[in-house]
This record gives sequence, C-alpha cells and structure tokens, in this order.
Amino acid sequence: MTYYLGSKAEHADELLKIMLPYRKSRMAWVEPFVGGANVICRVPDGNGPRIGADINPYMVALHTALGNGWNPPENVDEALYNKIKKNPTKYPPELVGFVGTGCAFGAMWFSTYARNEKGTNYAAQSRRVALRDAVGMKGATFIHSSYDQLEIPPNSLLYLDPPYSNTTGYLGANQKIVIGESLNKNDWNAKKFWQWADRMVDQGHTVFVSEYKGPQAEAYPTPPRTEAHNATMAELRQLQADMQALGDAPTPPDMATKREALATALAGHERVRRAPCEALAARWKVVWEKEVKVNFAAVSVDVEAGGEAKTETEKLFHREA
Ligand SMILES: C[S@@+](CC[C@H](N)C(=O)[O-])C[C@H]1O[C@@H](n2cnc3c(N)ncnc32)[C@H](O)[C@@H]1O
Repeated sequence: MTYYLGSKAEHADELLKIMLPYRKSRMAWVEPFVGGANVICRVPDGNGPRIGADINPYMVALHTALGNGWNPPENVDEALYNKIKKNPTKYPPELVGFVGTGCAFGAMWFSTYARNEKGTNYAAQSRRVALRDAVGMKGATFIHSSYDQLEIPPNSLLYLDPPYSNTTGYLGANQKIVIGESLNKNDWNAKKFWQWADRMVDQGHTVFVSEYKGPQAEAYPTPPRTEAHNATMAELRQLQADMQALGDAPTPPDMATKREALATALAGHERVRRAPCEALAARWKVVWEKEVKVNFAAVSVDVEAGGEAKTETEKLFHREA
C-alpha cells in the first residue's frame, strides 16, 4: 500500500540492500512502525517470520485483508469519503484504512478528499498499487500495537521508521489507539523512542532506524556534577551577587575578568559532564542518507497550489551491539 505519509516506497530497495545482508537464516524481520507496509512487502518471505505492527488499527486491518486477498474499491466519491471519515466504526476497518490514506490529500490520514485538476481517480490509483503490493503482504503477520508493547522474537532484525518529530498529519502517539478513537494525536517522544531503541540493541536485536536526526545527548541521563563543578558554580553565583550589590556603580575590571574565567571554566565542566552522553548518542552511525523533498512535513505547505516542499536529509542509522 504505497500511498502513505512518510512512505519509504521510493527508498525501500536501497534501504533493503543495506539491511537484508544482516538478516541471518530464520531471523524475524520486525517493523514496529509498519505504516503503509512499503518496506515489509519487499522483504523476501520464507526466511523467517515477518511482523509488521502499527498503532493505527485500520492500517493493520488493511494489510491483513490485502494479504488475504481483499479487493479494495475502484471508486470512492467524496460523499462516501466523508461518511467514512465521520463514522469510521460503521465500516470495515480495512476500508477505513484504504480510504483514510489512499483517497486522502497527501495520503495524510483523513485530511481532505484527494482531487486534482487532471481528475485523477485516487481510489483506482491506490487500489492498483495496493494490489501490486498485496503479493508481498502474504505470509506476513500484522499486529495492532504500540512499538513499546510489541512482543518481539529474540534476535530479530528491527527496522524502525517512527513518525518524525514535529510533523503533523498522522498520529505520533505513544499509546495504543482503539478503533473509533481520534488518530490525530502528535505527542511523539523522541527521547523515549531512542532509549527503547538502545534497549533493543542491548537485548540482542539488530536495529536500523530511519530518521532525519539521530539521538541527542539529552536522551541519556547526565552524570552528577563533580565537586569542582559545584564549587565553580557557587563561586560564580557569589560573584554575581557581589556585582549586583554594587548597584549602579561600574563593574571593577578584575571582577569582570573573573566572571569571564569562571563562565569558561563552567562551560568546560559542563562539556566534560556531557561527554559520556554524547558518546552514547554517537554509537548510532549513519549508514545511508539521501536528500528528499518532504511535501508533508508542514501542513501549511500547500504543494498542490505550488508551495515549495521542504528539503530534508533522510538517514538510516545503525548501532552495533
Ligand atoms: C513514517 S510512518 C511509517 C511508514 C512506513 N515505513 C512506510 O514505508 O509506509 C510511521 C508510522 O508510525 C506509526 N506510529 C506512530 N506512533 C506509534 C507508536 N507509538 N507505536 C507504533 N506505531 C506508531 C504511525 O501510525 C505511522 O504509521
């Protein structure tokens, strides 16, 4: 099902060229953010289980149905689109998943009904692609779960393609959404995600992550300040209090020099304190990158009306055990 916000369909072959050599015989392929299943459907079947999970239950229902031979509709008019959007629980979940992405502008979850001047039949176009990819869905298992609650077989190969921070257009929630609930939450927590990804590596999984940015040092707990660090802080605070006590009188040059020296020393302490966190973050190495146009990154960019798409560098990160 290619039409999906953040779809990796265009890069799937390049990404798989890097990841598949790591998949040993019978190793499970697990995608906890399977989205439009654009990568998993290109992973060869028969060499161990393939598991795709997502917090969006309708997409999970759609992939399962496609794998079982479901035939999506050829036509979905605007009236039906809006009825499904308004009352998703009244329709089969696979149809909701299909219409909510394949017939939506920018494939953004039930944004507005997709249309263009050429009169493209988006349902027919999405159906063609879905049926083409359905071949690759066969044999895969799709699970409705939040990534952090997913049961993962030991020593799996994990391909993680989380929602990008600060994007809108689909949910980036950390809790499991049930059918009928709003899918527009966007409270993605990158720090929590990277800590979880690290745990996965530590547990013995082989892990790859698609992201624009790797983990920041802030994702790791900073060691406590040393005594020397605390002493410098106390000295600086005292000096600032002394300077304030001077009122409107000019700052004596020796005080100003001392303040500068203390500020430099403090920055040095802070650098040393954060170095182990920087080192932990740096374990995630970029193994592939490509500049891409992201026409979905900001809903405020109306690409159809000629607005300029944002350019980002899409990256694949990997951390050795
Ligand atoms: C960038 S998309 C994945 C695109 C997919 N790789 C493709 O090529 O079609 C990110 C996905 O993460 C899902 N998601 C967001 N929060 C989640 C969570 N807490 N647990 C599991 N999936 C989540 C979204 O529903 C979305 O489908």
